[in-house]
Amino acid sequence: MINMKNAKVNAAKGALEYVKDGMCIGLGSGSTVKEFIKLLGERVKEGLKVTCVTTSFDSRILAIENGIFVTETDAIEEIDLAVDGADRVTKKALLKGGGGALTREKIIDYNARKFIVIVDESKVENGVLKGEVNLEVLPFAAPLIMRQLKEYSPKIRAAKSKLGPVISDNGSFIIDCDMELEDPKKTEEWLKSMPGIIENGIFTKFDIIIVGNKKGHRIL
Ligand code: A5P
Repeated sequence: MINMKNAKVNAAKGALEYVKDGMCIGLGSGSTVKEFIKLLGERVKEGLKVTCVTTSFDSRILAIENGIFVTETDAIEEIDLAVDGADRVTKKALLKGGGGALTREKIIDYNARKFIVIVDESKVENGVLKGEVNLEVLPFAAPLIMRQLKEYSPKIRAAKSKLGPVISDNGSFIIDCDMELEDPKKTEEWLKSMPGIIENGIFTKFDIIIVGNKKGHRIL
C-alpha cells in the first residue's frame, strides 16, 4: 500500500526542481499542491524570490501562511510556471475539479508558459479516461444544463457544512457528471460551447505530468 502523503510530497518535490528565482508561479489547488506550497514556502524562507497567483481562496490562504508573496493577475506580466494537481490523468488529458476550483485552475494553468501536473500513482489511468467530469455552471442555467446532460447522471454538488449546493469561489454551482472520454479534447470543447457552463474539468493542455510514489517520482 503506497503512503499517499509521501507520494504527494515526492510529486511536489519533482515540480520544485522547475522553480527558478524571479519566477511568477501559478499555484493550483488540492492536497498535492498543498505539499508543493509548503515546500515552496521553505525555499522562500531560505531566500528564493517568487511571485504567485492562486487558483482558490484555499491556496491563497495557505501560500500567505507560508510566507509566499501572492498577487492578482492584473499585477503580473506572465505566469512562468503553473503547478496543479488532478483527480484522474492519462498521457492525453486530466480530470480536475474535485475541489471545485476548476475555472480558476484552467485560467491560470492554460495561461502559464509551462504547466506541470503533480499526482500520486492512484490517479493514473491506463486507457480511456473516465470518471467524474466536473462543471462550473451559472446557477440560472443549472436546470437547463442538467436536462441537456441527463444521460451523464448530472448532480448539483451539495455542500457538507452548509445547507444546499456548494457555491464556488466565483459564486457558481458545481455539477458533477459521469463520463467516458473517447476524445477528451472534443468533449472539453463541446461542454465549453454550452451557454451557462462557465468551465469544465477536462484539461487537455499541459506540459509534464509528475507522478509521485513512496520512493520518488517519475514522468508519465
Ligand atoms: C481542485 O478543484 C482540483 O482540480 C484538484 O486539483 C484536484 O482535485 C486534485 O486534488 P488532490 O491533490 O487533493 O487530489
